[in-house]
Amino acid sequence: MDIQKKMQELVDQINHYNHAYYQLNESLITDEAFDKLLAELQKLEFENPLFAVPNSPTQFVGGTITKNFKSVTHQFPMLSLGNTYNESDLRDFDERIQKALGEEKYEYICELKFDGVALSFWYENGKLIKGVTRGDGTRGDDITNNVKTIKSIPHTIQSQDFPTTFEVRGEGYMPISSFEKINADKISQGEAPLANPRNAASGTFKLQDSSIVAQRNMACFVYAYLGNEIPFQTHEEGLMLMEKNGFPVSNTYRKCGNIDEVIQYIEDWEEKRHDLPLNTDGIVIKINDLGQQERLGFTAKSPRWAIAYKYPSEIAHTKIESVSYQVGRTGNVTPVANLHPVYLAGTVIKRASIHNANEMERLDLHENDTVYIEKGGEIIPKITGVDASKRLPNAAKFEFPTHCPACDQALIREEGEANHYCINDSHCPPQIKGRIEHFIQRKALNIENLGTETIDLLVEKGIIHNAADLYDLNEESFFGLEGFQQKSISNILTSIEKSKQIPFRQVLFGIGIRHVGATIAEKLVSAFHRIEDLQNATYEELIAVPEIGDRIALSIRAFFEVEENIQFIDKLRSSGVQLSEEIQEIVLEGQALVGKSFVISGVFENFERDDLKAKIVANGGKVVSSISSKLDYLVAGNNMGPAKLEKATQLNIKILSEEDFLALLS
Ligand code: IVH
Repeated sequence: MDIQKKMQELVDQINHYNHAYYQLNESLITDEAFDKLLAELQKLEFENPLFAVPNSPTQFVGGTITKNFKSVTHQFPMLSLGNTYNESDLRDFDERIQKALGEEKYEYICELKFDGVALSFWYENGKLIKGVTRGDGTRGDDITNNVKTIKSIPHTIQSQDFPTTFEVRGEGYMPISSFEKINADKISQGEAPLANPRNAASGTFKLQDSSIVAQRNMACFVYAYLGNEIPFQTHEEGLMLMEKNGFPVSNTYRKCGNIDEVIQYIEDWEEKRHDLPLNTDGIVIKINDLGQQERLGFTAKSPRWAIAYKYPSEIAHTKIESVSYQVGRTGNVTPVANLHPVYLAGTVIKRASIHNANEMERLDLHENDTVYIEKGGEIIPKITGVDASKRLPNAAKFEFPTHCPACDQALIREEGEANHYCINDSHCPPQIKGRIEHFIQRKALNIENLGTETIDLLVEKGIIHNAADLYDLNEESFFGLEGFQQKSISNILTSIEKSKQIPFRQVLFGIGIRHVGATIAEKLVSAFHRIEDLQNATYEELIAVPEIGDRIALSIRAFFEVEENIQFIDKLRSSGVQLSEEIQEIVLEGQALVGKSFVISGVFENFERDDLKAKIVANGGKVVSSISSKLDYLVAGNNMGPAKLEKATQLNIKILSEEDFLALLS
């Protein structure tokens, strides 16, 4: 085959797998096979440099695109479970067990089937030494730093209950409450929400920066113990021993003497499972006695001594009537399917989000298609597939628009981003309305009595153009508008007046800088106190604030570079809106670090990254993001990037371990 063509094919293939892995959280290929493709491309590019394409995925090694986790081989393969979907399948399973065990009595342990990501925790001499993903079952990713952020997983075991080496397995998950909080933040920042807690968990455990993982409050339930020496006789004893030693064992398991009791367990949990802090999609039935487990053994893929029962998933099918494209306040364009109404899990569904152009492409949606919709843990129902056999001949494919459906501006899609954006932010009506709606919401300026419809009307009539114009409104502004009584006008005006007392942190959130959600706004106000200080803050100063990363810092800088935004802020100021907040000055804990600058890198035993930053600041020091010759110290945790270490060494910067840092403090 033509070498150039072969190279292009490899590039496309690798990009496709990278995209699935990083954007859709799907591993379509084993790490080994992926690395082989990448190595093949690297070799061909080395031999044929003229044919190498500028954006080749080989150029991103060590960046965000190519996989960065070390791959490790599991001591015991991580298998999967056979599935059953009804009572009769379950009774068949029980008969197989009975037949294999002959006259022996046996018991089952029933557990819930947690819907997250399988994780394996390796312990050596009482210490957690590794956390590994399932991967392809034989090899997984070493994500030790990320699993260490799960607060309930012990890092050390004090007791003598376990042998020198052993392994515990469980399901890592993102609690529904964290998932909803992240999504509420994403929506308020004009970003697409995460699909469901499982994808969110899988994506989070694959993040390279464990300080972000730590903020997401990840959790786990453990359900298996493995090792060459097993210090108990039954699965139940194993669960109890793990629990006694501080492992998070869910108290939802039950011992069942026969298959009827198992069926009772399934019924008992069918509804109750929805009250748990995580999604469950079924139950797992395991033979309790370990000797019997051993005799029953394994097939190539799964144990013969266990099986899963899946609760019927809540799926419906209906016809797609049209696709609308919604423009959010930050200009992101989201395709939404308008459906023939259908009843699903307690509600009538008329619309479903299609998230973005990638998802639309994956579904290959055509006019009048019959689609499957599912309501799992996610808030918004989702189209999960299309019944292509019901497609009408000549049905046209839905194509993502090239121009904004609201203002006709050409849409842009930045490299690596899944979303399309309309950049006409000052004149695109849904963006203007969206920003005003964001501004008046409870968490922001809390302007009551002003609904979406009133805002739409005021914008359409040209009475207001942005949120600051709300402060120009008076009774006369409403003259000639239908449906406004004296009383409702005065209520609106009173609410607007009251909003001038809203503290700066809420105002800053309401201003709607991209990526600045309510929590980030609070952090910024604690650091800068006045909008002028935020406006004048350099990128370096911004990034030194706890939880402010590259993306947020750049977005803040970009916001204050736009003249219209400055005018908007000026108008808020002259209207009397709070743009500063007196925050108690930090009382220094000590003076040990006064005048010293620090870069923090890696993961630490005694501190979360933010705590470490706070400690430095509380002792008079300053945290900066990049290493320069002016830097005083690099505080190096576990797994810090080799490039940073090299640069610091070259520049003769003092490198501190966590212990050195503590010593410096005292
Ligand atoms: S036991 C041989 N127990 O389900 C596999 N698995 O298809 C033994 N899972 O990847 C697994 N809850 O991540 C077991 N209580 C539970 C579980 C559970 C969820 C997941 C697990 C595994 C998949 C099996």
